[in-house]
Amino acid sequence: MYAVTGATGQFGRHAIAALLKRASPNEIVALARDPAKATDLAEGGIAVRPFDYDAPDRLAASLSGVTRLLFVSSDTPDRRVAQHKAVIDAAAQAGVAIIAYTSIIHADANPISLAESHRETERLIAASGIAHAILRNSWYIENHLIGAEAAITHGVLLGSTGDGPISAATRADYAEAAAAVLTEAPGPNRVYELAGDEAFTLSDVAAALSDAAGRSVEYRNLPEAEYREALIGAGVPADFAAALAEYSAKAASGILADESRTLSGLIGRPTETLRATVLRTIGSAAPSANAR
Ligand SMILES: NC(=O)c1ccc[n+]([C@@H]2O[C@H](COP(=O)([O-])OP(=O)(O)OC[C@H]3O[C@@H](n4cnc5c(N)ncnc54)[C@H](OP(=O)(O)O)[C@@H]3O)[C@@H](O)[C@H]2O)c1
Repeated sequence: MYAVTGATGQFGRHAIAALLKRASPNEIVALARDPAKATDLAEGGIAVRPFDYDAPDRLAASLSGVTRLLFVSSDTPDRRVAQHKAVIDAAAQAGVAIIAYTSIIHADANPISLAESHRETERLIAASGIAHAILRNSWYIENHLIGAEAAITHGVLLGSTGDGPISAATRADYAEAAAAVLTEAPGPNRVYELAGDEAFTLSDVAAALSDAAGRSVEYRNLPEAEYREALIGAGVPADFAAALAEYSAKAASGILADESRTLSGLIGRPTETLRATVLRTIGSAAPSANAR
């Protein structure tokens, strides 16, 4: 029996869809903080069980009969280690055979503050003795679409990444790889560095937005503190603005790039490109854009 945590989140939903291509609904358990959000999955024949990382005493019961667990990382980095420890302890208690965990690319050397809780989770999983696969995902391409509307409106995309290459891929591609790893024969414990086939820079993001919108968008690189202030000025809460500016500045080192093509190897096709994702998501106003 397969199970997916965070099943009502964006990644979790892609993962369930990818698993459904490889297993029947009655072999899948959707673990949801709020099962009421998963009624569509239940209607499709998938068992939905409550699974709140902040309710440690109730986790093991929801893992009953689960052999392979796709553990999608929590979206609250400051509470993540305690939440994740509870999940790993529950998996051990319930006799889960294999955990596949969504970590961050190059977690062992990644200077981005977010990586610390992923490193600690990887350590806890290894210490649990449960067989595991570490899915070290690079950035989602979708992260770069969050500010797209403002960038198109103002003709400027801001950031602190300089010419740093980013090998992002879509949530759907990472989720398909996760389903492949979860369902295929378990090898020895393994770390997968997962990334898009083609690295891009933030200037490439600006160019893709230009083509999609049919108007000029330029990338403007700012020092981290100036970028943080610009985000705050645009209404982003101060803590989140500081985090985004830090991620952007540290990505300048190229830590989010990876040329191994492990992700496309797992999914058996090239990963979706930045341009394809931009066109699919925000469409194209430029007649030439589709020809590229
Ligand atoms: N690689 C990247 O670029 C990137 C970017 C953003 C996030 N991430 C990481 O990847 C994960 C999945 O991304 P996503 O885009 O799917 O995020 P998302 O849409 O925000 O989904 C997060 C999921 O975590 C669940 N969750 C939050 N707190 C929980 C709790 N206490 N107990 C149980 N479940 C809880 C949420 O439940 P509800 O459905 O009830 O809200 C949701 O299903 C994130 O959580 C984060 O760790 C990676």
